[in-house]
Amino acid sequence: MVLFSPSVLTADFMHLGDAVAALDAAHTDMLHLDVMDGIFVPNISFGMPVVASVRKATKTFLDVHLMIDRPHRYIEAFAKAGADSIGFHIEAGSPVEQTLRQIHALGKKNCLTIKPATPAQAVFPYLPLCDMVLVMSVEPGFGGQKFMYEALDKIRQLREQADKLKLPLHIEVDGGINLETAPLAVKAGADVLVAGNVLFSAPDMAARLTELRTLTANL
Ligand code: DX5
Ligand code: ZN
Repeated sequence: MVLFSPSVLTADFMHLGDAVAALDAAHTDMLHLDVMDGIFVPNISFGMPVVASVRKATKTFLDVHLMIDRPHRYIEAFAKAGADSIGFHIEAGSPVEQTLRQIHALGKKNCLTIKPATPAQAVFPYLPLCDMVLVMSVEPGFGGQKFMYEALDKIRQLREQADKLKLPLHIEVDGGINLETAPLAVKAGADVLVAGNVLFSAPDMAARLTELRTLTANL
């Protein structure tokens, strides 16, 4: 089954609650929260207080994507803020195995994330410790960018390796997902799709989510 994790990055933050309510009404599977620090990525978005406010507003699974430098310093804070899954970048300068284990020790799901220039093989040694791997299909930092098709090969390699090790790994793809790229990502082996612009630019988010679900079912 394919799960959708809409990113609220391009929402109007003055009315973030309305966006969360609309996505809940559209029966989203998760909510994807993009945390940026202006150091690991050029952009700055939001941090723990916003995650905590979203937590109060919904019971939906919160998929937190940390794009911050040395994320191990903040794992506990995001767990306390109410994240259900905490994802961090392998390139961000944290001890990878220790941070993956720390997230589990706090009772949360973990997600190891790679930027476009990082090969899939970089995460292979950690796969038995991961609930999910996130393959970035744009340079992290901004919503609304074009999908990088090179990500598809990485997804294939990861799915192959997870199958070889008989791991029930979730593979998430993030960036430039639209009506054309969503089925390609699923065919390659992704089962969690982040969707930002494709939903927020739609006249009717619920109808667009249904459309995405239909296009990615039974592939
Ligand atoms: C980019 C973020 C993405 C992004 C997705 O750094 O991690 O989650 O907001 O937005 P779209 O779907 O518009 O590419
Ligand atoms: Zn993201």
